[in-house]
Amino acid sequence: MPVPIIIDCDPGHDDAVAILLAAGDPAVDLLAITTVAGNQTVEKTTLNARRICTVAGIADVPIAAGCAQPLVQPLKVADDVHGASGMDGPRFATPTVDVVPEHAVDLMHRILTEHPEPVTLVPTAPLTNIALLLTRYPESAGRIREIVLMGGSTERGNRTPAAEFNVYVDPEAADIVFRSGVPVTMCGLNVTHQALATPEVLARLEALGTELGRTVVELLTFFAATYEQLWGFASPPVHDPVAVARVIDPAIVHCVEASVAVELRGQHTRGATVVDLHRYLDRPVNAQVALALEPDLFWDRVIAAVETLGKRGA
Ligand code: BDR
Ligand code: CA
Repeated sequence: MPVPIIIDCDPGHDDAVAILLAAGDPAVDLLAITTVAGNQTVEKTTLNARRICTVAGIADVPIAAGCAQPLVQPLKVADDVHGASGMDGPRFATPTVDVVPEHAVDLMHRILTEHPEPVTLVPTAPLTNIALLLTRYPESAGRIREIVLMGGSTERGNRTPAAEFNVYVDPEAADIVFRSGVPVTMCGLNVTHQALATPEVLARLEALGTELGRTVVELLTFFAATYEQLWGFASPPVHDPVAVARVIDPAIVHCVEASVAVELRGQHTRGATVVDLHRYLDRPVNAQVALALEPDLFWDRVIAAVETLGKRGA
């Protein structure tokens, strides 16, 4: 039986690939796509979710817009990485799929309440919507099978020396999620930097010969240019689908148990995830922490999903 999931995202080049993997892989049942401010404003990330769903022919999955601002601090977008639109590169047609007239948090709550089985949440963005869900509807925690998120790092950050973008944008929200008691799996930079869109990966996507395959190549080509310019990467790390892949097949992403805390007050380290891999501290385990990726298995699933959706749309 496919695992029921909701993706909470801020598309975002890699969020777009996460949506495609979730919609195109038979091991998961994508119940909804919810959006939040992060890589760009929530207006832009929501438009981008509609754009990628339109080009992929994903018409039967509700899309709901969520929070426009982090819980406490002002929004800081990543236009240097994702461009002014939040998903620069391809030229997108006017979207034909619309949003539902419900706030993302209310939609998540309704699905969690109504679905016959517990649902897995896959946040690939700042955790504002998820924190609000857990705060406003605490009873929903019991309906969440697990939260498998892209965010944090066991090592360095990518917005400050210590903080990864999704946690850096809304540290208070991340703190609520990691302290919620809901099972959490953290796919941080240390593992997503193993998901590189190499020239070989781009060639396989191009060889699909579909409009969707070409769109993904254009997305990843833009992403490659900013990653090269900002961080000197030879190929860009495609972070967000790693969290989806972990749900699809846990053997693709290897995890260990650890305690994770979010630094809220550090003078130089606000937004860092403090991961106690060596059990220095007497703190209970609150997360599965991803350490290693099987890149071949990962890319096979991503490319197969793009192929499936591309054929459907052709
Ligand atoms: C995360 O930040 C965003 O820019 C990406 O979409 C990803 O979710 C990586 O740090
Ligand atoms: Ca993202």
